[in-house]
Amino acid sequence: MTSATSDNELKELEEKLLGEVAGAGDLDVLEQVRVSAVGKKGSVSALMSRLGKMPPEERKAFGQAVNSIKARVTHALDERKAALAAQELEKRLANEKEDVTLPIRLGPQFEGRIHPVSQVSDELVEIFADMGFSVAEGPDIESDDLNFTKLNIPLEHPARQEHDTFYFGPCSVKTDNGEAERLVLRTHTSPVQIRTMMASKPPIRIIAPGRVYRCDSDQTHTPMFHQIEALVIDEQTHMGNLKWVLEEMCKAFFEVEEVKMRFRASHFPFTEPSAEIDIGADAIGKPGEWLEIGGCGMVHPNVLRNCGLDPEVYQGFAFGMGIDRMAMLKYGLPDLRAFFSGDLRWLKHYGFSVLDVPTLAGGLSP
Ligand code: PHE
Repeated sequence: MTSATSDNELKELEEKLLGEVAGAGDLDVLEQVRVSAVGKKGSVSALMSRLGKMPPEERKAFGQAVNSIKARVTHALDERKAALAAQELEKRLANEKEDVTLPIRLGPQFEGRIHPVSQVSDELVEIFADMGFSVAEGPDIESDDLNFTKLNIPLEHPARQEHDTFYFGPCSVKTDNGEAERLVLRTHTSPVQIRTMMASKPPIRIIAPGRVYRCDSDQTHTPMFHQIEALVIDEQTHMGNLKWVLEEMCKAFFEVEEVKMRFRASHFPFTEPSAEIDIGADAIGKPGEWLEIGGCGMVHPNVLRNCGLDPEVYQGFAFGMGIDRMAMLKYGLPDLRAFFSGDLRWLKHYGFSVLDVPTLAGGLSP
């Protein structure tokens, strides 16, 4: 092979390859051209393999010539690739159009609604958390012992009748010492007081929101409703503390500067003294009227004793309020039964946006 032929041959090959690069209509074809030209088994690489059999004086010039072909072809490949990529982008931009006049599709965060009971529970938890209370829980299915006996309501106590209790069948469970014990649907959140005092040492400061059950139904009573219980146990706790906490809670909850409150002497077996809590309905735009929101009192020494606490050392207060009642008052909801009928139209109307998370800093209600 003379160097004249190889010069010619190289020239032809380069022209052919540059022609193929220029003619590649899309990135896929261009890639095939690249592989067949400068790929491992491509035509340019094939030229390199000839080097070994060449006389040394020709080798250098031939090698340089092949290398510069390779460089020029590679350069052409890169340029063509950039041009084709730009072309493809142009094409997509021209074809893919957004119609910005289409209505927005609402995500689930705008479709769903938070039930007023959940909203009001969250508001109350937020208020009490700010006063240093933590949230405690107990089961809906409770033992007779915790729902009644430990709360100073023994078996034959008339208060049991007042509670319209849903009892489970006799001998529902066996206690630790093997005795049969009756289960009930808890009639109030007060058994959470007992659970907390038996499980932790004073000082205690908890609230317990949750479902409770009584066999009762009319416009203002449903067989299931919600209460929030509060319990504070320490060595120097008195009625003044109880009053202050309730007043601060009401002011924060109804979002007013001043709340009129009245404590009516009452009776609960688990508190002594006991009182019913009324608030002046001015807060909700009904001046002159009083509304009952719950019961309260100083924890009865027997209850403390039942939980292993010495009443000579510790005292405390407790209260229980109806969450549904609070929701009706604050948000003007007329019929309690509608709360639990599962009517989506009601929920859409009275429910809250999931984004309206109540915080004291940002405002409790939307
Ligand atoms: N558990 C009582 C009820 O359901 C309310 C209450 C709680 C009263 C705590 C006093 C103290 O009626």
